[in-house]
Amino acid sequence: MRQEGALPIGVLASGRGTNLQAIIDAIRAGRLKASIRVVVSNNPEAYALERARNWGIPVEVIPDKGFSSREDYDREVVKVLKDRGVELVVLAGFMRILSPYFVRSFPMRIMNIHPALLPSFPGLKVQKKAIDYGVKFSGCTVHFVDEGVDTGPIIIQAVVPVYDDDTEETLAERILREEHRIYPQAIQLFAEGRLVVEGRRVLVKDYPRAEERSMVNPPVTIDGE
Ligand code: GRF
Repeated sequence: MRQEGALPIGVLASGRGTNLQAIIDAIRAGRLKASIRVVVSNNPEAYALERARNWGIPVEVIPDKGFSSREDYDREVVKVLKDRGVELVVLAGFMRILSPYFVRSFPMRIMNIHPALLPSFPGLKVQKKAIDYGVKFSGCTVHFVDEGVDTGPIIIQAVVPVYDDDTEETLAERILREEHRIYPQAIQLFAEGRLVVEGRRVLVKDYPRAEERSMVNPPVTIDGE
């Protein structure tokens, strides 16, 4: 998937790859000026690989087994990405923690999407954690990857309500719909050179402000006027 003047990206995925698909769709629709140089997976069974192959995107399967350390594995992945000329690494359900070596190889050039409003609920199974905690809103976060887990500077977030009768699945689905909107957007902002990292903050240059609008859950029904 190549385009003139497009940002060369590499996508890392371990599973079903719906975010990869959203990125492919955004590129095809001309909304995202990127070209996917390679899809890398640690899981030979990942459906994400199938999706890539369907669109003629090169894939590299690097199974986890047989490496003596996390860094050894990551050296292999970094080499693939550099050889393909990747400028932005996009984690899309990649179920491995990156070593400092990997992170330093692409400083502020690795993005991740997380299905919660960071810094709340980092880690795994976070839709269940949000329900169990009793929060009234959750959402998703695209952030740059630093050497911690889900701790890097936040680029964009989307909020969804959590309902009393939500299950892990219904909440995950509601969040996923937003993931598919904000991930291509975050990559496009990067491609346009609009993201300026200042410490923990990511400022978006020359861009409209979000509308000042509150969401309340459960809704307020006793408002005057
Ligand atoms: C998404 O929920 C994403 O937020 C998390 O892993 C999941 C990947 O889903 N990091 P998919 O493989 O893109 O469908």
